[in-house]
Amino acid sequence: MIYPIVKYGDPVLEKPSAPITKFDDELRKLIEDMFESMYAAHGVGLAAPQIGIAKRIAVVDVTFKDDPRAKLVLINPEIVNKEGRQRGTEGCLSIPEFREEVTRPQRVTVRAQDINGKFYEHTGEDLLARAFVHETDHLNGKLYISHISALKRDLIKRKIKKLVKAGEWT
Ligand code: NI
Repeated sequence: MIYPIVKYGDPVLEKPSAPITKFDDELRKLIEDMFESMYAAHGVGLAAPQIGIAKRIAVVDVTFKDDPRAKLVLINPEIVNKEGRQRGTEGCLSIPEFREEVTRPQRVTVRAQDINGKFYEHTGEDLLARAFVHETDHLNGKLYISHISALKRDLIKRKIKKLVKAGEWT
């Protein structure tokens, strides 16, 4: 099932999500749906609050279907190490049509649980490092625009307000 992507302005995107405690078939189905929804939206990462579900789950595939081993499920993720800096353009499926330069760590280690509840650690660089911090932020109710200047953030918010008024932000 493909879920519609929740857009900026919905309070679910700005509150912390709840930890997962049950690793059952329902969770399996949700994760399958999250991958399907992410691919349908042409994204390389998706967090559950972005489909309106305030649970600590994110899916990532920075290769966009190219490499099945790149499909990562992050349940209850925590960032345990960050190194270096990278500067690059970042966007978010919940804030479509906008992109901004965001400084992020170059190398990030995430500790998370997999679909069976087993803990693992994964270290990523470049885009994968960016995805790990971006998606983990989502589960803490934080959006990438909190990492840009107040000036740029206000400009985006003003533009979105106009889109909302025009009925073009639903
Ligand atoms: Ni996002």
